[in-house]
Amino acid sequence: MVFVKTLFWSPVMTPSHPKIEQPRLGEPYLLTPGPLTTSYAVKEAMLKDWGSWDDDFRAMTRELRSSLLGLLGDGADAFDCVPMQGSGSFSVEAMLASFIPPEGKALVLANGAYGQRSAQTLQYLGRDHIVLDKGDYLPPRGDEVARILADDPAITHVVAIHCETSSGILNPVEEISEATYAAGRKLLIDSMSAFGAIELRPSDIRYEAMVSSANKCIEGVPGFGFIVARKNELEAAKGNSHSLSLDVHAQWAHMNKTGQWRFTPPTHVVAAFIEALRAHAAEGGVAGRGARYTRNRDVMVAGMRELGFETLLDNRWLSPIIVTFFCPADEKFVFDRFYNLMKDKGFIIYPGKLTVVDSFRVGCIGQMDEVVMRNVVRAAKESLEEMGVTNAAPPLRALEERAKLAA
Ligand SMILES: Cc1ncc(COP(=O)(O)O)c(C=O)c1O
Repeated sequence: MVFVKTLFWSPVMTPSHPKIEQPRLGEPYLLTPGPLTTSYAVKEAMLKDWGSWDDDFRAMTRELRSSLLGLLGDGADAFDCVPMQGSGSFSVEAMLASFIPPEGKALVLANGAYGQRSAQTLQYLGRDHIVLDKGDYLPPRGDEVARILADDPAITHVVAIHCETSSGILNPVEEISEATYAAGRKLLIDSMSAFGAIELRPSDIRYEAMVSSANKCIEGVPGFGFIVARKNELEAAKGNSHSLSLDVHAQWAHMNKTGQWRFTPPTHVVAAFIEALRAHAAEGGVAGRGARYTRNRDVMVAGMRELGFETLLDNRWLSPIIVTFFCPADEKFVFDRFYNLMKDKGFIIYPGKLTVVDSFRVGCIGQMDEVVMRNVVRAAKESLEEMGVTNAAPPLRALEERAKLAA
């Protein structure tokens, strides 16, 4: 067993969260940022069938909406929650189409695949937009946003990604929000992979709407996303959407009137999500969940660094969601082989999404704790040994790339 000492953040050595069980059917842990490893109780909640019109299911929809709003803390009264069928991208598209009116113009802050996807969505929607493209990971900063908004009075909305999951960077949404509202514009946030583990309190960060999905930090299974938006924006969104099924205003109005989803809801996924929300509350809500993920990251990153791996990002920018590591320079390191060796040991990791250097990613979210993370590090050590890689250090080019953010 590799002994891992923590380098930063959480000082606690023993897990303080409810017990985490190994996957009962023996499937590998998903070190991927959703779908992720869920508890047996969450999976078990899907064994019952529910009538989508029935009062019992309506009560579940009510609980889902009010529990999610509860995660906003102070200021939640001004917001409402609208669940939407489909994967996270469906909810992002629904949010962009419903809150940016056809005559609006968006500034998309992109530093990875999901910022680019928002821009592509706006392209499909025919919404005027410009992109601040910071490449693979460099964070969009408040002063840059302020400059662009000052130069272009036509921009009505700024679109920001909270945790850009393609690199794992936690973007500075506070300063982006300040710059946006100082210029009298509106902020929409894609908090897909962060919401539920990283605070997004409207009393701290102003925004009009945000989006996330069932299979991220709340630890449900895939099948729907949700939009949390100011009620006045929901009212004003009437008639904006290009799409019948992705119209947030229509879904909201119908849900408020009837207690039902407009079209067939993913009933089993909702039942699983209710179970996941209760476990989230039992763990201490956003703070408790965030603390476990932070501890997962600390233990895993410290252990990987002891093996010689280097992270793309400096500690200041690392999210507790997912971490990008550079592939070792050693030519005996072949990612596909490493992936399969890790899978044989019970862990599914993620290929990297950087365009400039080879990388891979390890997620910290889902039903896992530091005990599991120590085993991940041990599996990485053994996999390197089996490949004959004696040094996990990255090529010089990778370190030069990293220096760009430190500069
Ligand atoms: C930040 C972010 N936005 C959007 C998405 C898209 O979600 P989905 O793959 O569920 O459509 C993801 C997926 O991981 C994400 O991390």
